[in-house]
Amino acid sequence: MNAKKILVINGPNLNLLGLRQPEVYGSTTLAELEEHCRVHGATMGFEVDCRQSNHEGTIIDWLHETRGTSHGIILNAGAYSHTSVAIMDAIASVERPVIEVHLSNIHAREEFRHTSFVSKVAKGMICGLGTTGYMLAIDALVDMLEHEK
Ligand code: DQA
Repeated sequence: MNAKKILVINGPNLNLLGLRQPEVYGSTTLAELEEHCRVHGATMGFEVDCRQSNHEGTIIDWLHETRGTSHGIILNAGAYSHTSVAIMDAIASVERPVIEVHLSNIHAREEFRHTSFVSKVAKGMICGLGTTGYMLAIDALVDMLEHEK
């Protein structure tokens, strides 16, 4: 791995960002969010690869792939955060720092959103700050990775 790389993974339904419940998730589209992430990472010399999938297995495959290709991961697993032991196990196996992000404050919403399997294995978690949360997660990962050297 030469260039410093961060992988941003957005999970199910986040392809509809900007259109889906904008009162909860905001009006920024996924394409705009991904561009902000790439630009923000680039200002600190990091390449940010952004991906989105509605499929649990694809997200798991991408997490496995990071073993040799990314230095850190930002993951908004959407509703899978509350259900997927398989994604939790994949995170535990990647040996790279994973920061969990949610646009909305999952603790201020329905009870079933209060538990996250991702949180059990993530390095840290940011929720409720909208798309700003992704930028803060990039800052945190960059700081972590710079001090790792
Ligand atoms: C979400 C919160 C989840 O509960 C929900 O299922 C999502 C989006 C968020 O970013 O706030 O799809 O992860």
